[in-house]
Amino acid sequence: MGFSHGYGKVPEEAYSIKAIQKAHDFGCTFFDTAEGYGDVVFHRGHNEQLLGKAIEGFRKDIVLATKFRVNASEIGDGVTIQDAIRKHLDSSLKNLKTSYIDLYYLHRIDNEVPFEDVAEALGAFIKEGVIRGWGLSQVSGETLAKAHAVTPLTAVQNLYNMLERDCEKDIFPFCLENNIGVVPFSPTASGFLSGNTPFEKVDDVRNWVLQLAKENFVANQPVLDILAEFSEKKNATNAQISLAWMLHKYPNVVPIPGSKTQDRILENLGSSDVVLTKEEFAELEAALDKCVVFGHRGHVESDQNNFGNNWKKK
Ligand SMILES: NC(=O)c1ccc[n+]([C@@H]2O[C@H](COP(=O)([O-])OP(=O)(O)OC[C@H]3O[C@@H](n4cnc5c(N)ncnc54)[C@H](OP(=O)(O)O)[C@@H]3O)[C@@H](O)[C@H]2O)c1
Repeated sequence: MGFSHGYGKVPEEAYSIKAIQKAHDFGCTFFDTAEGYGDVVFHRGHNEQLLGKAIEGFRKDIVLATKFRVNASEIGDGVTIQDAIRKHLDSSLKNLKTSYIDLYYLHRIDNEVPFEDVAEALGAFIKEGVIRGWGLSQVSGETLAKAHAVTPLTAVQNLYNMLERDCEKDIFPFCLENNIGVVPFSPTASGFLSGNTPFEKVDDVRNWVLQLAKENFVANQPVLDILAEFSEKKNATNAQISLAWMLHKYPNVVPIPGSKTQDRILENLGSSDVVLTKEEFAELEAALDKCVVFGHRGHVESDQNNFGNNWKKK
């Protein structure tokens, strides 16, 4: 996402493409984008087009995930929900230079479009073979269960990290029981957990991340102290420990850290080599459980009640 939008200045396209290819060379096989990434500074589809160019040589070897939104205004007058979604899908396929999407998420539920209808439409696309699986983003366990009953879900992409742990209550138990993957976005808490958080005024999500607000930033320091202790012990970085923690905790978790910096992308991928022992994990977990976190966004949103609407307000 950061190559197109959301984390300040965007790198040159050649640098971004190289970064994606370097990640693949390193062993990364899961790439996440969305139709909407890019529309603040560039245009809709900017990030998909960039990714499409970068992966052209190895598309068949990777799992490609993208997201769409569908609003009530797009449906009616003879246009079915299936027709409306097909338009988004065709656009993503073109942008990504591919004939199929591995994982197609509804980016946010529109309260005026029943998500069960979306689930049914995506079930038909799975049958057709144009998508291989589907998912939801920023939803509750209750919504997940209802949607799963219509068309079995592949994955859910929610906010989850050491500072945002609500998913442990409803999302992980349901997903573990039903063989659904959990894909945490912002797993390093928008960089807070890495210890690196200088941010920019323009098109930077960190202006609104509550845990990064001045007073909360200071109050949340104890979490960074814990990370610093473990990163020294394990000869790893803070970001790697924050990712290794969730990788140890759940067998069905696939965090997607974001970075527009080539070295950090490889650093984050390296977290899979940072293995915590049972005792280390228990110690880390107990220390985190004692921390009170300041600033909370949560993992249930809709198109109408969406954190991303901060951009529109601006
Ligand atoms: N479903 C949704 O609604 C939703 C919402 C947000 C994001 N996403 C997806 O999830 C992905 C990840 O989310 P995110 O970008 O918010 O993840 P994140 O990793 O929590 O935050 C990214 C920020 O952290 C910094 N960072 C990451 N790793 C670092 C490291 N090792 N050392 C220092 N700084 C580091 C990055 O800096 P630099 O870029 O400067 O290196 C960037 O500013 C996005 O790319 C997007 O695909 C989905």
